[in-house]
Amino acid sequence: MSVWAVLVAAGRGERLGEGRPKAFVRLGDLPLLAEPLRRLDESEWVDAIVMVAPPEWEEPAILLAEELGASKASACVTGGATRTDSVRAGVAEVPEDAAVILVHDAALPALPEDVVPRLLEALHQGYDGAVPALPLTDTVKRGRGGVVEETLDRTDLLPVQTPQAFIAPVLRAALEPSNTVLQATDCAALVEAKGGRVRVVDGDERLLKVTTRADLERVTAWL
Ligand code: CTP
Ligand code: MG
Repeated sequence: MSVWAVLVAAGRGERLGEGRPKAFVRLGDLPLLAEPLRRLDESEWVDAIVMVAPPEWEEPAILLAEELGASKASACVTGGATRTDSVRAGVAEVPEDAAVILVHDAALPALPEDVVPRLLEALHQGYDGAVPALPLTDTVKRGRGGVVEETLDRTDLLPVQTPQAFIAPVLRAALEPSNTVLQATDCAALVEAKGGRVRVVDGDERLLKVTTRADLERVTAWL
């Protein structure tokens, strides 16, 4: 069973505000992209990796993969205007005979090695997709214009992470442009909209998403 990873790194990093795409902001001595790329490359569960970079950052991404000796990095393609567009561009580079596609955000650099096998196990059980999630500990309210409208029952709410794993043809079908999901911020939402069954597996706190400067400092301190 071949497992291809699509590493999406084509966002602009506007909330980080470093004047360059988030994946190319320094994390220690290297661009942030180096960390998830190296971890996917070292994973015994991953066979090959497609990187998705912002326009004009494809070359630096390829050079970085060479510098790291990331031999599983097979291609780097240009991303699109939205995350979904970028995933679609990356998936288009995955060969037809791939069994599983793993989609991972470069914005979650510190990928622990035991997350991927948990996701693959769920696919073995017959699910179309699998996502890592952590229990929600905050109280969650819905509000509008700065005023609380209601307090939600958090027991069924799941903050999810990446990587997310999918049976390859299921993800390809979900990415068809006819599948218009409002504000799909992850791939599972696209698969769910098509009626796919997505399994929740244990996430990991180390999969912290880098959005702001403070997140970047926290991840830097861990590594
Ligand atoms: N992403 C992408 N293509 C886009 C938008 C996002 O490949 N058009 C990727 C980002 O590179 C990131 C992941 O999707 O790895 C999650 O996006 P996010 O955290 O929002 O990153 P950015 O879009 O770069 O940040 P911002 O929204 O602050 O600009
Ligand atoms: Mg974004």
